Amino acid sequence: KPLVFSGVQPTGNLHLGNYLGAIRKFVALQDSHDCIYCVVDLHAITAQLVHEDLKHQTRSITAAFLASGIDPKSHIVFNQSRVPQHAELAWVFNCVARIGWMNRMTQFKDKAGKDRENASLGLLAYPSLMAADILVYRATHVPVGDDQKQHLELTRDIAQKFNIDFSNRIQQCGLDVAMTVGEEKIKGYFPLTEPLIDGPAPRVMSLRDGTKKMSKSDVSDLSRINLTDDADTISKKIRKAKTDPEPLPGDVAGLAERPEADNLVGIYAALSDRSKQDIIDEFGGQQFSAFKPALADLAIEVLSPVSVEMRRLLDDPGHIDAVLKDGGERASAIAEQTMRDVKSIIGLID
Ligand code: TYM
Repeated sequence: KPLVFSGVQPTGNLHLGNYLGAIRKFVALQDSHDCIYCVVDLHAITAQLVHEDLKHQTRSITAAFLASGIDPKSHIVFNQSRVPQHAELAWVFNCVARIGWMNRMTQFKDKAGKDRENASLGLLAYPSLMAADILVYRATHVPVGDDQKQHLELTRDIAQKFNIDFSNRIQQCGLDVAMTVGEEKIKGYFPLTEPLIDGPAPRVMSLRDGTKKMSKSDVSDLSRINLTDDADTISKKIRKAKTDPEPLPGDVAGLAERPEADNLVGIYAALSDRSKQDIIDEFGGQQFSAFKPALADLAIEVLSPVSVEMRRLLDDPGHIDAVLKDGGERASAIAEQTMRDVKSIIGLID
């Protein structure tokens, strides 16, 4: 089975974008793939060093994974910091990646803002740690939202440069693996990872502004639906969601210049595992006054059981910690082998 890896940062409340862009896909991949899902607590300290309760945040993301239907026995769920090989491989990748690559990352530019000199070195090196998260398991598939696309391209660049720069040593160590990339057959140690971004809601937009991504850091809580929102709050946020005055179009092409309408239809499609075309076939020509209540009902039906189960799980932090510990042990077994290989490739005495 192909190996899937993905991570979520324990910063702030999870919202519908995280759920549809990532977690719901994590759940769906479990039948066909071996999956490793990670709460990336070391990434959480790159933009903000001191957190009020990082432990609670980490448990809360873990609870969201479990409540959404991730099975931590058949797959692996753990927190990043307990497998030290992530940070160890990230150091090697810091020496593989070029400063110019990092400077071009749009997320770095956004998060660092105008005062770039004052951003943490960790924020600049963030994508290198992300590449290490994935490649320390030599994962081949990574489900993420559209905003992580550039980071995954960089992950491929790092894997490729490592494979090329060390190609002789990889061969001498007998560690070269044949792989097919597109049509091409190549050999190397690290796979060139495929992002899994498709689906009807790869980029869930703010409910207040269809041109801005739904985000944990938006000052307006009305801009997002949090996984922990109750039914009344979800209804209210959808009722107040910005829309244009036209009814829904008769075909998907009619959504092109209408970001708010496109966003709501995409959300409906993703929540119901249907295509946007399907939703337009059902609701095309109808007013938002009819579509929004249907969307609110659907969102409540899907999200309420998740938030109820999250709360139940969070009542027993001991259980969550045991899941993370068990997952961490199984993850370590894979990561330790990779680091042994990497050390012998580089020539570090082990
Ligand atoms: P993070 O914690 O910001 O977000 C977690 C996941 O949610 C997706 N997402 C969205 N998808 C659709 N619409 C949105 N509005 C939206 N907002 C967030 C993100 O794309 C992500 O999939 N760098 C990563 C965490 C990470 C990681 C990794 C991911 C660290 N190491 C290795 C994959 C593999 C991040 O900050 O995600």
